[in-house]
Amino acid sequence: MTNSFALSATNRIALITGASRGIGAAVAKRFAAEGAHVILVARNSKGLEEVDDEIRATGGTATLVPLDLMEFPKIDILAAQIAERFGKLDILVGNAGLLGELSPLTHTCIEDWDKVMALNVTANFHLLRCFDELLKASDAGRAMFVSSGVTKRAAAYWGAYAVSKSALEAMVNIYAAENAKTSVKANLIDPGAVATRMRAKAFPGEDPMTLPAPEDITDIFVKLARADFMETGGRYIPA
Ligand SMILES: NC(=O)c1ccc[n+]([C@@H]2O[C@H](COP(=O)([O-])OP(=O)(O)OC[C@H]3O[C@@H](n4cnc5c(N)ncnc54)[C@H](OP(=O)(O)O)[C@@H]3O)[C@@H](O)[C@H]2O)c1
Repeated sequence: MTNSFALSATNRIALITGASRGIGAAVAKRFAAEGAHVILVARNSKGLEEVDDEIRATGGTATLVPLDLMEFPKIDILAAQIAERFGKLDILVGNAGLLGELSPLTHTCIEDWDKVMALNVTANFHLLRCFDELLKASDAGRAMFVSSGVTKRAAAYWGAYAVSKSALEAMVNIYAAENAKTSVKANLIDPGAVATRMRAKAFPGEDPMTLPAPEDITDIFVKLARADFMETGGRYIPA
């Protein structure tokens, strides 16, 4: 087993949201293989257990947290539990996301708009708010959030999703700027097109075999998680 996190004297504790499938599951498995203890957050227990089985089979360790991130007070409770058990958080991966319905902006269903904003923006705000102290308790706290290429173009019909990812980018850049003189680094990852359930919903006619698998794009997550990675406020795409 390689160990990219070995630069730190202590074992790395990594929390990954949206770890029950797709990109989050692949990142969780990779981080566990690199020697981190991974805390897996998502709603679907069965998905989390399947990821845990794979992690254990390769000698890794995980803590499973079945949680709806739109229930914001539960994020406070989770942070308190992690503080009690580990006293720090080394790596925070804000990956969970919701596509919502693709439609003309002015036709967006209000409930759909609210849910997309709640998960893609507000839940990530609560993660930063609740885990800030624990990231600072690490010798090298690393936060990374998964954005999208839709922030870089006028993405017609991607309404709430595109707006939410632009807000996420602004928020993470603000957090990075405010922490420029601390040991905490915060960055964004635009994963590009990846064969997941979300991508299949957005592009139902596309052959997923033509896309990278989630496992193919985890190197950038490892790079940004390393204790010797000192950039902050950046936006990265997989190599
Ligand atoms: N795939 C792509 O091509 C692509 C491109 C650009 C950006 N992204 C971004 O990459 C990230 C991961 O997407 P993906 O493609 O891997 O999507 P996905 O396969 O749909 O996975 C989404 C993950 O988020 C979790 N999740 C959804 N709602 C949640 C909630 N309320 N509380 C907790 N967890 C929740 C899901 O778990 P549960 O259902 O078990 O809760 C699942 O683990 C997202 O932020 C997405 O916007 C993806």
